Amino acid sequence: MPDSSDADLIDGRVLAQAVRDEVQSAIEEWTQSGRRAPFLSAVLVGDNPASEAYVRGKEKDAAEVGIETETHHLDAATLQGDLLDLVNELNADPSVDGILVQLPLPDHIDEQTIIDAVDPSKDVDGFHPENLGRLMRGSPRYIPATPYGIMQMLSRCDIDPEGMDAVIVGRSNIVGKPLANLLLRRTANATVTVCHSRTQDLAAHTRRADLLVAAAGQAAFIDGGMVKEGAVVIDVGINRVEDSSTERGYRLVGDVDFDDVRPRAARITPVPGGVGLMTRAMLLKNTLKAAQLRAAPE
Ligand code: GUN
Repeated sequence: MPDSSDADLIDGRVLAQAVRDEVQSAIEEWTQSGRRAPFLSAVLVGDNPASEAYVRGKEKDAAEVGIETETHHLDAATLQGDLLDLVNELNADPSVDGILVQLPLPDHIDEQTIIDAVDPSKDVDGFHPENLGRLMRGSPRYIPATPYGIMQMLSRCDIDPEGMDAVIVGRSNIVGKPLANLLLRRTANATVTVCHSRTQDLAAHTRRADLLVAAAGQAAFIDGGMVKEGAVVIDVGINRVEDSSTERGYRLVGDVDFDDVRPRAARITPVPGGVGLMTRAMLLKNTLKAAQLRAAPE
């Protein structure tokens, strides 16, 4: 049971629903003016259960707001050249607004090569170097969905990062690095530290954080002793841990030990029901943007 002194939850379900409602209204307006619905093409290579679940979630969300989707399911043994051919086909297809290649890809495929091949104007993941470069320069086009979702969670909860010591644990190209850039922008004005697996005395950094973002992919490794009293804690982790008491045999936990950290934090995101839902919602926003870009190129 939460104590009255516990952190307020940042509820991803409510915030993501608000984003979906906004995207749905914008798409209704878009189609009512005679345009076709935005179209997202997803590519899934192999049968990673987590990736399959993500792609199913994306299809469901898209259908709900009026985005049309197709998913190309390719065999795990697909050759890199064949995947590149498919990406090039989608790049050239005028009916495709957004392209999403689900990561991770099998080991024999070089992820960078595939990401680089996606037409940057259709790159709704925002992973292409052109889009990452624009983000770093401070004039983003597509913002990667997870950091975009985190920034939206903060602004929709009236949490202003200005002047905060923000500590991000995790330096991935998908979350840590783009989020650091977003928090550094003059619209956010946080002071940013990015920690990683080789950081010495990680807890000394995390204990300074007014805003702590855990994106290291390790179950429940941020405990209460690593968190400053009154911090805002954003948990990006989605880790499966075995649990024979559940029907699926596992449950999802974040990178934060929620029960241990909640009494110390001012605000905290739960897992599930937190950042993951916002990530999905921001992809919808990026797909709408892709359709708008197609209709009126920059
Ligand atoms: N794998 C984990 N997160 C993501 C994401 O946001 N986009 C894609 N394409 N793959 C992922």
